Parts: sequence; C-alpha cells; structure tokens
Amino acid sequence: MNKYKHVFSPITIKGVEFKNRIEVAPMVPCMATPEGWVTKELIEFYRPFAKGGAAIVTVGDSAVNWTHAMDHEGQLNLGDDNVKMGLDDLADEVQRYGALISVELNHGGRFANSMNLASKGLKPVSSTPKPAEIDEFFSKLQGRTPAEVEEMSIPLINKTIQDYADAAGRCKDSGFKMVMIHGAHGMLPGQFLSPYVNKRVDRYGGNFENRARFCIELLEAVL
Ligand SMILES: Cc1cc2nc3c(=O)[nH]c(=O)nc-3n(C[C@H](O)[C@H](O)[C@H](O)COP(=O)(O)O)c2cc1C
Repeated sequence: MNKYKHVFSPITIKGVEFKNRIEVAPMVPCMATPEGWVTKELIEFYRPFAKGGAAIVTVGDSAVNWTHAMDHEGQLNLGDDNVKMGLDDLADEVQRYGALISVELNHGGRFANSMNLASKGLKPVSSTPKPAEIDEFFSKLQGRTPAEVEEMSIPLINKTIQDYADAAGRCKDSGFKMVMIHGAHGMLPGQFLSPYVNKRVDRYGGNFENRARFCIELLEAVL
C-alpha cells in the first residue's frame, strides 16, 4: 500500500474537495424509464458505491439528446428539463454519503440505437456516413438491412455541441460538481477524431487539428 499512500487522502481540484482518490468508473445499468427519467432502481444501483466510500460516483453513458444521441435503452435522457426532478433525487442520494456525483455525457453518433431511430423515421448521424460495424453484425442476425448513417451538417454539429453544454448545465443545476465526456469506445467525439471514420473535407475533417475541432468546441461549450 506504500506505493498508493495518497489513495485515501483528500484532494482539492479547481476548488472542489474530493474525500479520497477513488472514482467509480461509469457504468450504465439501463434502469431509467423508457423516456430516460431516473427510477428508484437506478438510485439503488448507484447508492452502494457512495455508501461504500468512493469519492466520486459516475453515472454511466447518458444521452445528451433523445433524438440522435441515445445508444442504449434505459439510459438517462439529459436532453430534456423533465429529467431534473429525478436527477435532483439521484444527486442527493449519492451526496448524502459524502461522495460527489458525476455523469458521463454521451452521443452515440453512428453507434446510436438505429432501430429506435428508424421507428421515428430517422437515421444515425456521424462525422461521415460510415455505417456502424456493430449494426452490420446485428442486422445480419435480425434479417434486416444495416442502418444508413447521415453526415452531420454544420448546423447539426453546432446544435449537438450545445446539447452537451445544456446537458452539463442540467446536471450542474442538480448539484453535480463534475461531468465526464464519453470520448472512448468510438462514440461521437471519436468519430470526429478518427481518420478511419472521419472523411470530411470541411473544417471538421482532414488534418488532426480539423478532426479535433469538434472535441475542442465541445469542451469549450461545456466549460
Ligand atoms: C456493467 C458495466 C457497464 C459499463 N458501462 C459503461 C458505460 O456506461 N460507459 C463507459 O465508458 N464504460 C462502461 N463500462 C466500462 C467501465 O467503466 C470500465 O472501464 C471497465 O469495466 C474496466 O474497468 P474495471 O477493470 O475496473 O472493470 C461498463 C462496465 C461494466 C462492467
């Protein structure tokens, strides 16, 4: 334990005090209502981590809007003010044990739930109209054609960036002192960064600086 002697000591980052250095990794238990609102079960999923002593309890993969961002049934819908009442309860229940609550803001992009989108007459969107390999796999099993993906227009890019900021604002209103942006697992930020996916020829594609633009604008909007 000598190697990790600071694990149980507090730390202050940007004026926020964390009681130790233990953060629960984001996990999505898929326990929100079909509309994306907090349930009792969702609160009961996260409570033991707070009670157990972690400094930060991170709510997993949560959609920044309910049209194109959603990639799981049962995830939180942070794109609508109606989420706030339940979010207040969730934050209170985690924070009453002295833990801080955080959340992973996400947009699935080409990994969004294609069948859910199809039921609304929509297609997944991404930096580039590149179908998702996972959807190609599942479409074979389900005997359907893989979902086409639409390239995001500049107005949609701007709106999506604002969606991340608005979602973070709703969390802040409910007492969250931090949020996390889901940049892993090939989600939308990765779909802009990756030269494998991003084939755009405008200011959001091409060289590294252009491919990083979406992520930088998104971080600036959330800050
Ligand atoms: C049930 C479950 C749900 C998960 N959900 C998410 C998620 O919503 N977002 C995410 O970024 N990672 C998710 N992960 C990955 C974890 O955050 C973590 O990176 C992974 O489990 C590796 O850490 P570990 O070795 O401590 O388990 C999930 C993992 C599990 C087991």
